[in-house]
Amino acid sequence: MKILFFGDIMGKPGRQGLLKVLPDLKLKYNADFVIANGENMSHGAGVTNASYNEIINGGVDFLTGGNHIWAKQEIANILEQKDAKIIRPANYPPGAPGSGWKIVEVGVYKILVINLLGRMFMKKHMDCPFRKMDEILADDALEDIKIKIIDFHAEATAEKVALGYYVDGRVSALIGTHTHIATSDARILPKKTFYVTDAGMTGVKESVLGVNKESAIEQFLTQRPVNIEISENDTVCINGIFMDIDYNTGLVKKFERIEKDVILEI
Ligand SMILES: [Fe+2]
Ligand SMILES: [Fe+2]
Repeated sequence: MKILFFGDIMGKPGRQGLLKVLPDLKLKYNADFVIANGENMSHGAGVTNASYNEIINGGVDFLTGGNHIWAKQEIANILEQKDAKIIRPANYPPGAPGSGWKIVEVGVYKILVINLLGRMFMKKHMDCPFRKMDEILADDALEDIKIKIIDFHAEATAEKVALGYYVDGRVSALIGTHTHIATSDARILPKKTFYVTDAGMTGVKESVLGVNKESAIEQFLTQRPVNIEISENDTVCINGIFMDIDYNTGLVKKFERIEKDVILEI
């Protein structure tokens, strides 16, 4: 099973950039399934109906979320759709709309996608992602699912590495998101789980995590809230991970970091 995973899609430039290169990347890697983190898809925070439809119709098969997932109200309805192709972090307290994990059919195979949110420096009082992981993996519904992919949306590298070791040997891959900065530690852990601390961002290259750089600098200089604008210029960086996963064992046989610049015509 050949899977492409893209880090946080940041606003309209992120959406446009990804959709522009996606057909070529799918061809290049012979991809069976495409996952992307969508928490910043709509003007930098949240998911609207329009951007959800644009990305799903444009060739992304499944979306994960993060701390910004609730920023646009309509996400609750999208998450509650029976065939929703999006999940939100599983460790929100009970009662949150939608689901934090889903079994997805890819041809004759089934894969599990889990989304979890970290707790360190996140300004949220989430349920424990480690214990939530155990709870999900113990579910009877997963008995014959070999391919299990986790998006761990977290700030602290220590928490990400620790969860990686915690699930090592129990899942196919744990891919970190949220920091918008790709890390160079993609590797197979001792018990054969693929791990990377952060997949990186899909958004404007000359920006501060996808945000207009002048606004971001002003905020640091003044220490006062400023009107943060989504950066718009003509080069978008696409960051992600390609994985080739064995159908029978669920193990990642081969992986590659995707790092590509795309020029938008605007
Ligand atoms: Fe993000
Ligand atoms: Fe985030």
